[in-house]
Amino acid sequence: MKTYLALISAAALALSACGGQETAAPAAQPAASEATAASVASADAPAAASAASDSAAAAPAEGCEVVVNSDDQMKFDKQELEIKKSCKEFKIVLKHTGKMPKAAMGHNIVISKAEDAQGVVSDGAGATAEKNFVKEGDTRVIAYTKLIGGSEETSVTVDPSKFAEGSQYEFYCTFPGHYGLMHGTVKLI
Ligand code: CO
Repeated sequence: MKTYLALISAAALALSACGGQETAAPAAQPAASEATAASVASADAPAAASAASDSAAAAPAEGCEVVVNSDDQMKFDKQELEIKKSCKEFKIVLKHTGKMPKAAMGHNIVISKAEDAQGVVSDGAGATAEKNFVKEGDTRVIAYTKLIGGSEETSVTVDPSKFAEGSQYEFYCTFPGHYGLMHGTVKLI
């Protein structure tokens, strides 16, 4: 505690000492570099946040977003994805809470009519991981996220009006072999 207080007062002295100087005194160096690191970190945060919102076009309206977690056990934490019809755009966020790399335990979310799922999955298996295991130009696919690995996150925005009344929809992972454990129902509410 004494050491701590001594450090504080030393820092305070150093700060007040360099108050009238243009350049920082050598004694103030540790405190000054710490302050620089802190300000750099806080300056980065708004920049990162604005970059993220840029890619998402606009912030989703209240209740127009859902987060689905996936893991190293080849599981989504939801069996049902509820999409609100009243939303102009609905954002689906996919998080991978595991540690395994994309090549071994990659996950994505692909949405199609339930009847099209098997075809999308088998055609997707012929695409590469770089193509997110989705066949290029597959018109059966309503929306899909990119493929991610452990500790990564991605999102996709869907237009709820693209879902036809009376049709059954599914969401699933098209990484080869994952569909069996990684699929669920899309419910328009
Ligand atoms: Co997967």
